[in-house]
Amino acid sequence: MASILQSLVACLWASIISTSSRLLGVLPLSLQMWLRRVVNALVVATLVSVTSSAPPGFPSSGNGLWYTAPGAVWYENFLPIGNGYLAAMLPGGTSQEVTQLNIESLWSGGPFQDPSYNGGNSVPSQQTQLAQDMQTIRQAIFASSNGTIDSTSTRLIRYHPYHSSYAGAGYLYATVNSAGPISNYGRWLDLDEGVARTTWSQGSTTFLRESFCSHPLQACVQYLNSTAAGPLPTVTYAYSVAEETGLPTPNVTCLDDKTLSIRNYVAVPGMLYELLAQVEAPGGSVSCAVVAGSNPPNATITVTGAAEAWISWVGGTDYDMQAGNAASNFTFQGADPHNSLVSLLSSANLMSNSYESLLLDHIADYTSVVGKFALSLGQTPDLSTPTDEILASYQTYVGNPYLEWVLFNYGRYLLTSSARGTLPANLQGKWADGQSNSWGADSNINIQMNYWSAEMGNLDVAESLFNYIESTWAPRGAETALVLYNISQGWVTHDETFGHTGMKLSGNSAQWADYPESNAWMMIHAWDHFDYTNDVQWWKSQGWPLVKSVASFHLEKLILDLHYNDNTLVTAPCNSPEQVPITFGCAHAQQLIWQLFNAIEKGFNAAGDTDTAFLNDILAKREQMDKGIRVGWWGQLQEWKFDMDQPNDTHRHLSHLIGLYPGYAIASYSPAIQGGLLYNGTFLNYTKEQVLDAAEISLIHRGNGTGPDADAGWEKVWRAAAWAQLGNESEFYKELTYAIERNFAPNLFDLYYPGTPPFQIDANLGYPAAVLNALLQAPDVASLSIPLQVTLLPALPSTWSSGEMKGARIRGGITLDLEWSNGKPTAATFTVDSNVAGRQRDVVVNYGGNVVGEFTSNAGTTKTITF
Ligand SMILES: *[C@@H]1O[C@H](CO)[C@@H](O)[C@H](O)[C@H]1NC(C)=O
Ligand SMILES: *[C@@H]1O[C@H](CO)[C@@H](O)[C@H](O)[C@H]1NC(C)=O
Ligand SMILES: *[C@@H]1O[C@H](CO)[C@@H](O)[C@H](O)[C@H]1NC(C)=O
Ligand SMILES: *[C@@H]1O[C@H](CO)[C@@H](O)[C@H](O)[C@H]1NC(C)=O
Ligand SMILES: *[C@@H]1O[C@H](CO)[C@@H](O)[C@H](O)[C@H]1NC(C)=O
Ligand SMILES: *[C@@H]1O[C@H](CO)[C@@H](O)[C@H](O)[C@H]1NC(C)=O
Ligand SMILES: *[C@@H]1O[C@H](CO)[C@@H](O)[C@H](O)[C@H]1NC(C)=O
Ligand SMILES: *[C@@H]1O[C@H](CO)[C@@H](O)[C@H](O)[C@H]1NC(C)=O
Ligand SMILES: *[C@@H]1O[C@H](CO)[C@@H](O)[C@H](O)[C@H]1NC(C)=O
Ligand SMILES: *[C@@H]1O[C@H](CO)[C@@H](O)[C@H](O)[C@H]1NC(C)=O
Ligand SMILES: *[C@@H]1O[C@H](CO)[C@@H](O)[C@H](O)[C@H]1NC(C)=O
Repeated sequence: MASILQSLVACLWASIISTSSRLLGVLPLSLQMWLRRVVNALVVATLVSVTSSAPPGFPSSGNGLWYTAPGAVWYENFLPIGNGYLAAMLPGGTSQEVTQLNIESLWSGGPFQDPSYNGGNSVPSQQTQLAQDMQTIRQAIFASSNGTIDSTSTRLIRYHPYHSSYAGAGYLYATVNSAGPISNYGRWLDLDEGVARTTWSQGSTTFLRESFCSHPLQACVQYLNSTAAGPLPTVTYAYSVAEETGLPTPNVTCLDDKTLSIRNYVAVPGMLYELLAQVEAPGGSVSCAVVAGSNPPNATITVTGAAEAWISWVGGTDYDMQAGNAASNFTFQGADPHNSLVSLLSSANLMSNSYESLLLDHIADYTSVVGKFALSLGQTPDLSTPTDEILASYQTYVGNPYLEWVLFNYGRYLLTSSARGTLPANLQGKWADGQSNSWGADSNINIQMNYWSAEMGNLDVAESLFNYIESTWAPRGAETALVLYNISQGWVTHDETFGHTGMKLSGNSAQWADYPESNAWMMIHAWDHFDYTNDVQWWKSQGWPLVKSVASFHLEKLILDLHYNDNTLVTAPCNSPEQVPITFGCAHAQQLIWQLFNAIEKGFNAAGDTDTAFLNDILAKREQMDKGIRVGWWGQLQEWKFDMDQPNDTHRHLSHLIGLYPGYAIASYSPAIQGGLLYNGTFLNYTKEQVLDAAEISLIHRGNGTGPDADAGWEKVWRAAAWAQLGNESEFYKELTYAIERNFAPNLFDLYYPGTPPFQIDANLGYPAAVLNALLQAPDVASLSIPLQVTLLPALPSTWSSGEMKGARIRGGITLDLEWSNGKPTAATFTVDSNVAGRQRDVVVNYGGNVVGEFTSNAGTTKTITF
């Protein structure tokens, strides 16, 4: 009875949400949020009287998300599965499940839609003119009394309107012909196994539906069985685009008796995609039939007489990342995916009539990736409150270690499930509905945040990121460097998809357009990957060539500061990402380029490079460049070299604090290396403490991530990580918990505005990194001869007073197991990889402001610290 009542209430709530989402859209945001709070409070009050318990089979550790009613709204209720190549969103329906599908390379726009697409570049004949424009702009900036100009030449910007969007791939309908009232409903996402399940009863029969996307198979699988003695009722499978806004109706045909082929162009002209969905039903009969009179053709599959049935689907497009270069005329045009999909489907595994082996293979693969690291925050699982209700009663400051722990694991699940394909995790991972997604589901600054937790979290998922940068940015970006900046070395990007490397947006929106340091930010990941793994072979073949070419570009781009005439090298024009003014010597750019040049020195020998002229050039310009660290008129860390920060600037980005987190120019500030700058006739001589104090003042003034420009989850999570870096646990926890309360939806997706779309995955994926940064820090340092400073529990909230992490990675090739209790560490064991020969470093371990251990990271050694 209780569960029927509960299902009813929850269904009612789902329909309120679904209706209100549409209706609320027309109201002002503040009113929408107020209404949502009132409705939420009412619903929580209604549900509190109903007791429930997690569905049978839900992990007893509590590692998952569960609900007592099907989901109504894609962005706030559906549950995600994915293997990197494919993704899907599940509402958890009963007699009908409506699964929304994604194929990682299915994008509208780009060269597929416009043959003249050229990545937003100007034509080579404009190179001289643009170089002159650039000179004029620089002169105007330097001559300006306030160091800024209001606009750049519109000639610089060649944003291509067909820049594109990641697109949904339609819906799979799985219908079981069962009737009668539903009871015992439960749906959940098992984060131990990476499997989504729905269970419900009709009459005396209990059904179970399981869905997962297998990486080894490159296929997704959805399985159905029941407790009935005989066979399942008739099951049908069909495909629909009705809910997938903007996707043209494809040809749905029978490839054979048990396989649907779904095939079309995402737009005309546009990219070709195909999905093959094959049904297995041992002991039953499976048939595929064309729907009479359908045009374009439609078909459905019907299963009768089987005790269990499952559908496995594979999908692909004619996009080819390897064709994003001059040899392929930047077409990204690959082969028709049909043949490779047919062979994927017929791969031995999938044909092997044993569902259990498919499931077990998936679980083994998934756990082998996520299982190298484990965290406990001392949480007590709450197995009697569904995830949406736990979230609804969640409060900033107060927190709830159990939910915070689930969110940590969920972030790692989402990254693993979206990054392991050919393309990296985009702004929505790989989960997007409809043909037009906010910012195209791709963005110039957020994709970086997606990977923050990967190295320290021992998650080996960054390969697709580096392949993508190498294959799609570098080739076209070399053209941009030459034509736009008159720079013949290296490459640059201002934006991403289809090698859109030119500046973006039109008119004088330069704060959006001008972000040529995005490549330098991405190189943090390349350097870190080597620094954490000491994978010399990878460094030589991929990491170093990327880092070197980006450094070559910035080497040529730095120019003498002709405003202060202080003989330093600066970037100009520049701006903080997404923020005016257009000026010179932006702290964000200067700090990133300085870190990049350090990576060149640190990685030079391991790369086996013999180009010492290049190295010497880097070292000389690194010495001469403005390091982007300066304390301004109200004690802030200056965002620009010209001291013009406004104390009331609550911009969403923490651009000038990039060196605090995720970088290290501030966090590991060294007066000896970064100080002593000649500046307007002044000698700068800050202590590290002064620099950190200035960063703190800036962070305070930046607000809590609810400024007039945005109220997103990612800006709060970034602030949380920055506060943790300053060792401030109360501010860290406030921002982290504030993000959860304010921005996270019932399915724990992060929403850009509280309660409303778009879903933006960077807060979900940045979240584990922010949590880690409160538990363990070992920021990079300018030189390998500087000891690595490891800090244990730098910002531990009192709610996590006992806990444990196993398998955390520290740069230098070190693994750490750490335990703590009553807010203090109890044991720490550092194990050094066996491949660090020649790259040993001195490590200093700190806790509570004291050095608690020191060691040299000799290959294969172990250092244990007890407290
Ligand atoms: C190469 O692509 C450009 C558009 O970027 C197009 O104008 C040109 O015709 C293409 N050349 C060839 C040989 O296909
Ligand atoms: C463009 O670069 C070339 C080669 O470095 C240089 O000779 C030329 O002066 C540059 N043009 C402008 C306008 O800066
Ligand atoms: C800089 O000065 C120029 C000219 O005096 C003015 O137009 C512009 O608004 C100023 N910019 C800022 C950021 O103060
Ligand atoms: C249904 O499938 C699940 C998962 O494979 C399995 O554990 C369960 O035993 C099956 N139920 C029945 C009644 O066969
Ligand atoms: C195909 O037919 C099924 C069953 O009638 C229907 O639900 C589905 O929307 C149709 N699909 C397309 C692409 O027309
Ligand atoms: C869809 O089917 C029609 C014929 O029914 C065919 O002409 C067309 O090429 C097919 N489209 C695709 C994308 O295969
Ligand atoms: C911030 O302060 C400046 C200078 O007092 C003022 O011009 C500006 O309008 C303020 N901005 C906001 C968002 O309050
Ligand atoms: C630079 O020096 C000049 C002359 O000493 C002074 O008037 C000006 O305020 C200084 N500017 C800054 C930003 O410190
Ligand atoms: C800079 O500060 C350091 C101490 O932090 C001091 O040793 C040094 O003498 C100072 N140098 C100058 C030029 O003030
Ligand atoms: C965040 O800042 C806004 C604006 O200053 C303020 O209204 C709100 O109370 C703050 N929230 C928290 C949790 O501090
Ligand atoms: C944390 O930051 C807040 C806000 O600036 C400050 O009041 C508090 O003293 C800081 N705590 C620590 C431990 O530094």
